[in-house]
Amino acid sequence: MDGLDALKAKYLAALGSATGEAALEEVRLAALGKKGEISALMSTLGKMEPEARKAAGAMLNVVKDEIDAALRAKKAALADAALDERLRSEWLDVTLPGRPRPRGTIHPVSQVMEELTAIFADMGFSVAEGPQVESDWYNFDALNIPPEHPARQEHDTFFMARASDDPRPPHVLRTHTSPVQIRAMMAQGAPIRVIAPGRVYRMDMDQTHAPMFHQVEGLAIDRDISMANLKWTLEEFCRAFFEVPSVELRFRASHFPFTEPSAEVDIRCSWKDGQLKIGEGDSWLEILGSGMVHPKVLASAGVDPTQWQGFAFGMGIDRIAMLKYGIPDLRAFFDSDLRWLRHYGFSSLDMPNLPGGLSR
Ligand code: DAH
Repeated sequence: MDGLDALKAKYLAALGSATGEAALEEVRLAALGKKGEISALMSTLGKMEPEARKAAGAMLNVVKDEIDAALRAKKAALADAALDERLRSEWLDVTLPGRPRPRGTIHPVSQVMEELTAIFADMGFSVAEGPQVESDWYNFDALNIPPEHPARQEHDTFFMARASDDPRPPHVLRTHTSPVQIRAMMAQGAPIRVIAPGRVYRMDMDQTHAPMFHQVEGLAIDRDISMANLKWTLEEFCRAFFEVPSVELRFRASHFPFTEPSAEVDIRCSWKDGQLKIGEGDSWLEILGSGMVHPKVLASAGVDPTQWQGFAFGMGIDRIAMLKYGIPDLRAFFDSDLRWLRHYGFSSLDMPNLPGGLSR
């Protein structure tokens, strides 16, 4: 068989320069396919003399096997190269964070609201709400503050506009969260245990006062609730909120129209090198007003004061946020300064809870 070496060299060279599956298949068909050159030579064997056929057949088989082996080797090499390329181009850094870090932060006031809600929820209080534009009956009368009462002047109230010929008293921006006590009792009756965090408004503005600020109201009414329950509840709250092993509270006799008796509550603290420490020291800081709910208040909310009694308290949220997180100026709370928010803000993915820790 002449030219067999040249034929072999031609196909091996073609395989050498083939760059993909399709080119390989072309070479295979041209050489070994049914109509390929090697197959055509094979079909000439039948017409040969037996001796010559034997020799030619053996030579043809060797060449066929060589081309076949080269084909397989090239196929494997191409597959390896393709895999290498995929590994190189599809590389992934699994140590990268799964999601980009959220850019926004939770405002300290929102954080503190979540924290105190978690603490009071643990003690069986649910959250109640009321409107920020409130009728003067809910904001004052129902809380035993009649029109001529001096407390009305002390509240620096914002009044809503009324038509000049409308004889009804104007609505107000609520001056405290206490009206939510009335709404909650009217809606749920007694027994009841609620807190009501939210915005309140007074015409006042300096380093420690803003015209809009936040309070949380607390209310617990049952058959035999006393000042002792109030004291335990507030101590338990302060210990959990300020995340200290123990706190000491001081109850000072005071006066609010909606409670009798009434007490203002101070917490023991110390100022060292401008640093405030809660729970130890020789100073006292006022943090809230409280007392036993006045029978007239229960009655105006439809709760029978001969059957039910309980305590209420009102606490400034901005104030306790400043104390806990060492924020010196209240006005910064409402400036919407992103640098301040990034410094004092909290991660949006950490929900405060008692087992996990309130502030992380
Ligand atoms: N509403 C009062 C205020 O804004 C705070 C307050 C005092 C609320 C005593 C109460 C309470 O529920 O019992 O100044």
